[in-house]
Amino acid sequence: MKISFVSAGAAAGTGVAVAFAKSKHSAALSDYDVLSDGQISKAAKAADFTGKSGQSFDVYAPAGASTKRLHVMGAGARDDFDAETFGAKAVKALLMAGETMVTLHLDGMDLTPDDAARAALGGVLASYRFDNYRTKLTKDKKPSITTLKIAYDNPSKARASYANFYGPIGEGTCLARDLVSEPPNKLNPESYAARIKEMSKLGLKVEVIGEKKLTSLGMNAFVGVGLGSNFESKMVIMTWNGGKKGEKPACIIGKGVTFDAGGISLKPGNGMWDMKGDMGGSAAVVGAMHTLAARKAKANVIGIVGLVENMPDAGAQRPGDIVTSMSGQTIEVQNTDAEGRLVLCDVLHYARTKYKPKAMVNLATLTGAILVALGHEHAGLFSNNDEVAQQLLTASEESGEKLWRLPLTPGYDKMLDSKNADMKNIGGRLAGSITAAQFLQRFVGDTPWAHLDIAGAAWESGSSNPRNPAWASGFGARLLNRWVADNFEG
Ligand code: BES
Ligand code: MN
Ligand code: ZN
Repeated sequence: MKISFVSAGAAAGTGVAVAFAKSKHSAALSDYDVLSDGQISKAAKAADFTGKSGQSFDVYAPAGASTKRLHVMGAGARDDFDAETFGAKAVKALLMAGETMVTLHLDGMDLTPDDAARAALGGVLASYRFDNYRTKLTKDKKPSITTLKIAYDNPSKARASYANFYGPIGEGTCLARDLVSEPPNKLNPESYAARIKEMSKLGLKVEVIGEKKLTSLGMNAFVGVGLGSNFESKMVIMTWNGGKKGEKPACIIGKGVTFDAGGISLKPGNGMWDMKGDMGGSAAVVGAMHTLAARKAKANVIGIVGLVENMPDAGAQRPGDIVTSMSGQTIEVQNTDAEGRLVLCDVLHYARTKYKPKAMVNLATLTGAILVALGHEHAGLFSNNDEVAQQLLTASEESGEKLWRLPLTPGYDKMLDSKNADMKNIGGRLAGSITAAQFLQRFVGDTPWAHLDIAGAAWESGSSNPRNPAWASGFGARLLNRWVADNFEG
């Protein structure tokens, strides 16, 4: 979908005009009413339209204008108005309606340029589809809008805001959605690494580390997870040096299990197909790195993803195996399905010893238990550092990707103690998301760190959020971008 910003003026194609509940109308809406000799206000009256959020009515071929269809949407009260949600709702309402060009009239509404840019972002997020593998879609089942114009009083300012910030956010989020949606026979650790490698085009340095090197680095916990797979495990490091030379970076780290069958501790068959999305943490990191590079962020950021497939096989690791992690700590693998923490513990150790980051944040679809605790509404936030936790909560407010903090305490940590090794990789039935986080904490030392468990946030079937029209949400890319923008840029 092409986005453009224009100054006012009646639209060709279809116009979406806006009205606040307290009788403030977009300039276009008033214009149409004058041109049509009051036809629009008569229609509003007939439709009992008062401008409340959720109300709408249509006028086809309004008199005196070249517009095919005028779709008027209630914007609610001015103080409650969110331009991004509004843009998303407008596109959702018209996406499949056969319209190719839609103008969203935000002119004369006292909105900021950022609001106008965010309305466009909402439209982009709402227009997302993953139809790559559908060959029989008829025209009426495909989105028809090819151009979204935002009419606004200061189009050049809105255009700049979109180009420099909100446009790249839409790209990063949609990239993360694409990656999460790809089927696991197409996106495996090798093809995924190759796809990330292509991001060098954006000015990112991309380094792919294969299994031999991972083993020689001592990353046996990570490598153990992929032993049952026909694909080689890969660690991919994306470097963006947009900040001051020599300044320590922020590290963002993602779990990239391209398919999680559970390994020898095999998962039940029902719903197992969703485990193609078990690389959602890595997708957030890749999406964020895309956004940072596309908007030329003035910060030093390292993105690292651990890509691996967790399969049962004669070569796969067994429950009872003891592996030595890169940190030297030994782990008794009691459940091969608790594999995400085995990947991340080595990547976290690598990141902190190699880059001495100012802070590091990892994202992972780590536990089913976080779905029980928080559903799809919030991702779980765990941190050893109140400042980093607060930074992320603030970024979460601004980006709309919600977080809820959960505790880390020695009592939970103890649940990981093992008789046979330094720790085991499961903590028992209770507090599953917390013990998973405690496991990771054993590998971060005193580096300021946070872990986001996004197992509930990364995807949702039948979400009613107009900004999340597909199964995969792309959660995290946007949040990380905001976290970097707020805390690591000049
Ligand atoms: N990838 C899963 C977690 C998951 C579950 C993500 C549902 C998304 C939706 C993870 O690797 C896993 O299998 N975790 C186990 C841990 C358990 C064995 C301690 C779980 O949550 O059951
Ligand atoms: Mn698992
Ligand atoms: Zn997993």
